[in-house]
Amino acid sequence: MSGERQGEEISRRGFVAAVAAILGGVMSAFIGLPAIAYVLAPGLKKTDADAWVPLGPVDALVVGEPTFFTFSRTKTIGWEVNAISYGIYVIKKGEADYDVLSNICTHLKCHVSWKKDLNHFVSPCHNGHFAKDGTVLSGPPPRPLDRFEYKVESGRLSVHVLDT
Ligand code: FES
Repeated sequence: MSGERQGEEISRRGFVAAVAAILGGVMSAFIGLPAIAYVLAPGLKKTDADAWVPLGPVDALVVGEPTFFTFSRTKTIGWEVNAISYGIYVIKKGEADYDVLSNICTHLKCHVSWKKDLNHFVSPCHNGHFAKDGTVLSGPPPRPLDRFEYKVESGRLSVHVLDT
């Protein structure tokens, strides 16, 4: 009789221990999982990879004359934050017609600049020359200057930037 009673007590203790372990696990998960998610979430988050960047009123642009714009964007991937600088030439060709060109040479990524006396762009690194519309005139660049998509809304020009 006392042997049976001892067996019951052991199983009762085992049951209580099992319930305590299960409740402890549930409570730990209830508290721990949100804390882990809170810590890891920034590392898994990415910023939008593209955006429309406003450059200003089109009335300020002179027809036929390249105007240079610079801006930078911050790209965040997890805990890593990078500032990316952009240089863009806008050439107004008419009331609603623009060339929006990158200032990055398509050869080895030197910055091209507009040479008014030559009436074209020059890449200083290897003497690459680009016409006002971005096409290659001479030198090693393999292709024209990259173009940006643009839009004009309420008289203001914006360019579409795709961060890489
Ligand atoms: S980087 Fe422009 S010509 Fe080489």
